Amino acid sequence: MSFITDLTRMWLTRSPKPFTFKNEYDQTLPYAQCDGLGLYVHIPFCKNLCNFCPYCKVRYSKELCDKYIDALIKEIHLVGNQHSSKKKVTSLYFGGGTPALAADRIKEIIDALNKHFIITEGIGLELHPDNVTPDVLKVLKDAGVTKISIGIQSFCDKYQSILGRKAVDTNLMMSALKEVPFETVSMDFIFALPNQTFEDLKSDIDKAFSIGANHIAIYPFIDFTFTKSPVSAMPKKEKRKLLDDITKYCLKKGYVRDSIWTFSSDKDAKYSSMTRDNFLGFGCSATTLLKDQFKINTFDVESYCDRIDNGDLATSLTIRFSKRQRMIYWLFWTAYSTKVDSKDFEKFFKVPLKSMYGFELFLAKLLGFIKEHNGVYEMTLKGAFYYHYYENFYTLSYIDKMWGIMRKEAFPKKIEL
Ligand SMILES: C[S@@+](CC[C@H](N)C(=O)[O-])C[C@H]1O[C@@H](n2cnc3c(N)ncnc32)[C@H](O)[C@@H]1O
Ligand code: SF4
Repeated sequence: MSFITDLTRMWLTRSPKPFTFKNEYDQTLPYAQCDGLGLYVHIPFCKNLCNFCPYCKVRYSKELCDKYIDALIKEIHLVGNQHSSKKKVTSLYFGGGTPALAADRIKEIIDALNKHFIITEGIGLELHPDNVTPDVLKVLKDAGVTKISIGIQSFCDKYQSILGRKAVDTNLMMSALKEVPFETVSMDFIFALPNQTFEDLKSDIDKAFSIGANHIAIYPFIDFTFTKSPVSAMPKKEKRKLLDDITKYCLKKGYVRDSIWTFSSDKDAKYSSMTRDNFLGFGCSATTLLKDQFKINTFDVESYCDRIDNGDLATSLTIRFSKRQRMIYWLFWTAYSTKVDSKDFEKFFKVPLKSMYGFELFLAKLLGFIKEHNGVYEMTLKGAFYYHYYENFYTLSYIDKMWGIMRKEAFPKKIEL
């Protein structure tokens, strides 16, 4: 697996140098000059811990959650006070874990961020289906949340039980969503579960849009090595057919594909914390991407609180990118939206995309992975499948390795990918 990602990395960065993450960091983050900056806040608490889930999460307790949020607010001021004027940012996303468990303190966090940033494209937050009640939704809406994402996984009891989760009460969910509407209501699903069929997924998609979603995310099941999931991944051929069938179905229904895994019934409904040029992340495991560096906070809640209480950032590892490494990072995540505009690349890197990756673009066109219109490269169905296929390698050889180590060690010395 790592053989494929290693070769691709060497080819595209034109260097044998690996991605090296070191236990070092800047106490002052140079984000003031970054355009298109997004904000991310991680809340790692869950009522029950699902055995398939790779994210940084711990069992919820009110006491630990309050201590953590006190530290989180300190981290926001620690970073925000580094620059005197308020910085314009795109969106703010709360991810987890299950951020809705801290619904009563979300307003405090947003108020802290509003002291330093001007959020221009709304605020998104993740909920577990159990959190979708009129009371919780009202608290979130009053706090300023404009977009919600609900982790459904499947409406089919059979798959919920394979994943160790309980069935979703769709009537309760529908009436709560009707009572407290949001600009974007996104629902997460997992596909490529054992024996899952197109009919199963079609019925999930139809149900989501009929009970109040205007946006859906359909993620392929990933079997991380450090999770203890008994579920095994679907073979490649079946998975490709399923992905093509879902995509064709959604496009036939007129839904807009706004990223590799997401479709919306309303073109203004958006939910994506990934496709940002730069972002600042707060909380344990949160990542920060700036012009020349990427940093990741410690995964350990206690170590995170200790660092912040001492007035230090909770960074565990930092990579300082070479120019080509940053380009590859940019291209990989921009391609996630299924489109790459060469003008955006040139604006960001001050050099034409064709002069850096002309041969690769020619090859991708020849192989039928992309089509070009006026300098905008759009992925074909075939391209989207291979992007997905490659992303699976990337996830298993990069993210799996890094998160596997970071779950065990709060501050590892060095990780090379
Ligand atoms: C942070 S959770 C969502 C919010 C909430 N905690 C919940 O579970 O409902 C983010 C999403 O990641 C997806 N996910 C988690 N583990 C996954 C895996 N092993 N493979 C693919 N998707 C996964 C799920 O769709 C999940 O809804
Ligand atoms: S899937 Fe959601 S509820 Fe389950 S452990 Fe992951 S973050 Fe928590």
